[in-house]
Amino acid sequence: MKTTVSLIKADIGSIPGHVVVPKPLLDIAEARMAEAKETGLINSYYVFHAGDDTELLMTHNRGEDNEDIHRLAWDTFMACAEKAKKMKLHGAGQDLLADAFSGNIKGMGPGYAEMEFEERGSEPIVLFAADKTEPAAFNYLFYKIYADPGNTAGLVIDPKLTCGFSFEVLDGLNNKSVTLSTPDELYSLLALIGATERYMIKKITRNDDGALAAASSTTKINYIAGKYVGKDDPVCMLRAQSGFPAVGEITSPFLHTYMVAGWMRGSHWAPFFPVGLKDSRCTLFDGPPRIVGLGVQICNGELSSDDEGNPIVVDLFSDPSFDLAREEALQMASFMRRHGTFQPARLGPGAMEYTTLPQCLAALEHRFKDED
Ligand code: 13P
Ligand code: 13P
Ligand code: MG
Ligand code: MG
Repeated sequence: MKTTVSLIKADIGSIPGHVVVPKPLLDIAEARMAEAKETGLINSYYVFHAGDDTELLMTHNRGEDNEDIHRLAWDTFMACAEKAKKMKLHGAGQDLLADAFSGNIKGMGPGYAEMEFEERGSEPIVLFAADKTEPAAFNYLFYKIYADPGNTAGLVIDPKLTCGFSFEVLDGLNNKSVTLSTPDELYSLLALIGATERYMIKKITRNDDGALAAASSTTKINYIAGKYVGKDDPVCMLRAQSGFPAVGEITSPFLHTYMVAGWMRGSHWAPFFPVGLKDSRCTLFDGPPRIVGLGVQICNGELSSDDEGNPIVVDLFSDPSFDLAREEALQMASFMRRHGTFQPARLGPGAMEYTTLPQCLAALEHRFKDED
């Protein structure tokens, strides 16, 4: 029987402002998940948060895009939002953009990444969840892991990886996708995914057998809402080892930081800040955009657990190996903030279309006079 891993997330309220999800909301999510496990809807779960986003990690046998699983996530978020409203939390129900659930959580606001696969003898999975950025923030990460032999030694020295990987790339503007195979089409891939304003990676498969290697959320919340309601804080999951990049090849791009779009009001370039779960809160200029990395293994349809049945989740970025990236990120954050509201600190005009800036510019329109 195949196993499915689903990571579904939404911003349903936070404190103070957009900083962190408070415990009472996580408790509600935890209770809903426990109930779903009890009834057999899901096999195992882990609830956590990335900054102000509530994250539901679930394993089950119902496949990707399953109505019952998506409804469970939606109902859980609705219950949390109700509590958030009572607590007058900031952005209570922020990402719940539809009035009622309609078969699939796609296009309703929450973001999700899912993978269905036949379990290997050992099935390690790495999950990333980020706050104050967008799905295309993973473009550079995926390129490094699956197409850059300078990062992933296995692409050169492991015969199971030399076949390379194929990337399914979504054009977020036109809602079309294209699949490109590396190493053959590496330059074409980079031509697309370097443009993070528009292109984002949806799925990655291994070339020799089409096995699913990684999946990412692709929700563009401001396209759905038609106005700025927050960033599409993304999640992704990657299978590791034995024919896929090793866990250490998946984490090694974070020896350094790199720039992503988001931060304050979703309007600024910012260094990605890899943190352990205890530092998963966006405090400085609503950032810097945080990314948490969790390592799990799947065992007979469940998250591997201890003898009491608690899932064993390894908090990858809590390790001191990522101190250099954090140090670099703070240096870069300081440098970027000195530019205030000037480009390149502020995003370019194309990306700013999906923020609150156009309203400010519209107020000036009638004051412009033609030049001779
Ligand atoms: P596996 O053989 O378990 O995939 O590990 C390879 C390795 O050496 C990782 O660094
Ligand atoms: P979130 O998308 O994380 O809610 O952040 C919104 C924002 O504007 C932060 O400054
Ligand atoms: Mg928020
Ligand atoms: Mg958020």
